[in-house]
Amino acid sequence: MAAYLCSDNRKVTTLRLIEMKKQGEKISMLTAYDYTTAKIFDAAGLDVILVGDSASNVMLGNETTVPMTLDKMIVFAGAVAKAVKRALVVVDMPFGTYQVDPTSAVQNAIRIMQETGADSLKLEGGLEIIPMVKKIIDAGIPVMGHLGLTPQSINAFGTYAVRAKDEAEAEKLVSDAHLLEEAGCFAVVLEKIPAKLAARVASELKIPVIGIGAGGQVDGQVLVFADMLGLTQGFSPRFLRRYADLNTVVTDAVGQYITDVKQGDFPNENEQY
Ligand code: KIV
Repeated sequence: MAAYLCSDNRKVTTLRLIEMKKQGEKISMLTAYDYTTAKIFDAAGLDVILVGDSASNVMLGNETTVPMTLDKMIVFAGAVAKAVKRALVVVDMPFGTYQVDPTSAVQNAIRIMQETGADSLKLEGGLEIIPMVKKIIDAGIPVMGHLGLTPQSINAFGTYAVRAKDEAEAEKLVSDAHLLEEAGCFAVVLEKIPAKLAARVASELKIPVIGIGAGGQVDGQVLVFADMLGLTQGFSPRFLRRYADLNTVVTDAVGQYITDVKQGDFPNENEQY
C-alpha cells in the first residue's frame, strides 16, 4: 500500500494541530524510537511522532517506563529527530525528570530540546505538575499533557486497568485537562479511559485530545508502533488494532536466512566480489 496521500507537506507545528482540530481533521500519531523507523513513518505522512518512554519496554525490555532515564531518552529522541522532516516530534520527559521542582524540570526540558532537535515534550499528570508545565512553556518549549492511565504512575495505580471509571476520578481528569489547557499545553493525550469521558474532554477543550484506548470521539489517535505492527506478542488490549503481523514476517525471513546459510545457498555468485 502506498503512503497516505498528504496534500500539505509543510512541517507540522503545534498550531497546525490546533487548526486540524478546528477543521475536524483527525490527528495521526505513533511512537518511534530510532532513525530508520521514524524515517519510514514520516515519509508515510504521519502527523506526530512520539518518542515515548515506552521505549523502556519496547527497546530496553523493562517491565515499566519507570527505569527510563534522561540520557537514554536523549539518545532515542536524537535519532528520531534526525530522520523526521514533516511530522511534529514529541518527546516524553521520563519519570523523575520533572516532578521535583520547576527549576530542575525546565533544566531537563532544555537539555532534551538542545541535545535532540525535537519539537516539543510530553509530561504525565495534572494539577500536581502544573507549576512545572508552566515553567517549561515559559521557556518557549511546547508541552503536550497526558492523563488517564499514566504509565509512570503504575506503582501507585498497581494495575493497567481502565482509569477514571468512578465519578471522583473522572471529575479530577476533566479538571486536570482544563488546567493543562489553561497552562498553555498544545494538546493532551488521554490513555485508557471510558470513551464517553474522553469525548466530553475533547468537546470541552479547544486544544486537540489524542486518545489511546479512549474511543473515537477525540481529535486523534496514538498507538505504540511495535504493538500496531504486530512485533510485540502477548499484549492484546481491546483498544489495540494490529495493522501488520511483522513478528511472523520477521520470523519467516530470519528462518529462511538461517536455512540459506546452513545449506550454503547464501551468498550466491551474484552476491560476492
Ligand atoms: O510512551 C508512550 O508510548 C506513550 C503513549 C502510550 C501515549 O506515552
